Amino acid sequence: MKNKDRVIIFDTTLRDGEQSPGASLNISEKLEIAHQLARLGVDVIEAGFPISSVGDFESVKLIAKEVKGPSIAGFCRAGEKDILACWNAVKYSKKPRIHTFIATSDIHIERKLRKTRSEVLDIAANGVRFAKKFCDDVEFAAEDAVRSDFDYLCQVIEAVIDAGATTVNIPDTVGYAVVEDYGKIIRTLRERVKNIDKAVISVHCHNDLGLAVANTLAAISNGARQVECTVNGIGERAGNASLEEVVMALRTRKKYFGITCGVNTKEIYKTSRMVSTLTGIVVQPNKAIVGANAFAHEAGIHQDGVLKDSLTYEIMRPQDVGIPSNQLVLGKHSGRHALVKRLKDLGYSIKAEQIEKVYSAFKDLADKKKCVFDEDILALVEEGISTESETYVLEYLNTSSGTGIIPTATVRLSKKDGGKGKNKVILQEAACGDGPVDAAYKAVDKIAGVKAKLTDYALRALSVGKDAQGEVNVKVEYKGLKFSGRGASTDIIEASVKAYLQALNKIASGRPLGAKESL
Ligand code: KIV
Ligand code: ZN
Repeated sequence: MKNKDRVIIFDTTLRDGEQSPGASLNISEKLEIAHQLARLGVDVIEAGFPISSVGDFESVKLIAKEVKGPSIAGFCRAGEKDILACWNAVKYSKKPRIHTFIATSDIHIERKLRKTRSEVLDIAANGVRFAKKFCDDVEFAAEDAVRSDFDYLCQVIEAVIDAGATTVNIPDTVGYAVVEDYGKIIRTLRERVKNIDKAVISVHCHNDLGLAVANTLAAISNGARQVECTVNGIGERAGNASLEEVVMALRTRKKYFGITCGVNTKEIYKTSRMVSTLTGIVVQPNKAIVGANAFAHEAGIHQDGVLKDSLTYEIMRPQDVGIPSNQLVLGKHSGRHALVKRLKDLGYSIKAEQIEKVYSAFKDLADKKKCVFDEDILALVEEGISTESETYVLEYLNTSSGTGIIPTATVRLSKKDGGKGKNKVILQEAACGDGPVDAAYKAVDKIAGVKAKLTDYALRALSVGKDAQGEVNVKVEYKGLKFSGRGASTDIIEASVKAYLQALNKIASGRPLGAKESL
């Protein structure tokens, strides 16, 4: 191992994270997140599973071409067809990596793969050998390693290192491990596998028992030097080890772990927001590091202590993870320069042609709302990211509702003409519903001529105060595919319509999300 005191941060938000129920990202959203992960300073971005769908292949390829800094990894089974597809997507990166896997537990070998241990061992070693023909950097994962027979696991790991694997991944695929046992697996592998020093040991923990971060840290203490994690801990089922929790534990307890990593922690909050906004997966308020309450002191005794000396109750400072100051930053008299400067301070450099659009949205907001907080500004920019090529734009909305009134809505949308984007047609409809949101959604459905099923709706306040903007996240299903949308406004009905429209725009632009082959 080259650097024994540094751990490699391998981010799998765009692969395992995107396997979260309901999380699906389009290609431009994936690219946006990948650029942000590079700014965050992760070492490896696992950009997707190229053979699983055309969309995944294209997004891995685009990220490999465009994102500089981190290695770009693609995920693949250990068969030649999978490995070739993976290589054809990652080869455009300056630092490509092939991450190939096969399961090594008896239950997976017998029940899922219907093979023998010795067949699996051959497939693993041959897969790595084949991948090495194209790429120097090859990682092998023994799926369900934790429930594998340990002697057999050692045999497979030794064989794949002999075949050329430079990283060996020991996943807790089903989140079954407990802390000491997992640490022992890593320690014993280092003692028992005779060529282990030729590879980096990686860990990949799932959170089914809520132990993913604890297991990851135990593995580091026992010699693992790559950790696989996701922003906000999203991922298959209960998710993966959360990147921000692992990184902040290493930083806050530096003396205990004696391990560093390359993450710029000040980028954590922005990355968390971006992933939450674009995937539509809301961060729970009490989530460590990035939850809305992570740094909020409610009890009087705590508040008193923090005011006297923040170290009384704070082991980290909000600014260490880039949490905005929550102060009034701009108001209706602020000019373009102040807005651009504030955006720069928050880490966004927006293109000249976008400034006018964001500034005019800011002025509209400042007219409605006295205090414009950092959260509001971030929402404006994030809206800009995902609404670049809208088919439908909300032009007018009028709803009436109340006790004893039948809720009704009138909606006017502009629609790009024939996809050429030059001329617009104006379309208008009215509808009744069981509430103003339902009525407005029905009017939108009439205009768009699609019958999408609303499967999830979540509303939250973006900042403090009665005039706070409401943020709505929706999920809709259309022809068996899932689409997400998000909207923010001081008027929650308008926010609801914006969110729904964003999802419909994804349907209209034919961006089927999450449409992957079953694996
Ligand atoms: O959970 C898992 O085992 C994985 C791969 C690394 C095989 O996602
Ligand atoms: Zn996983």
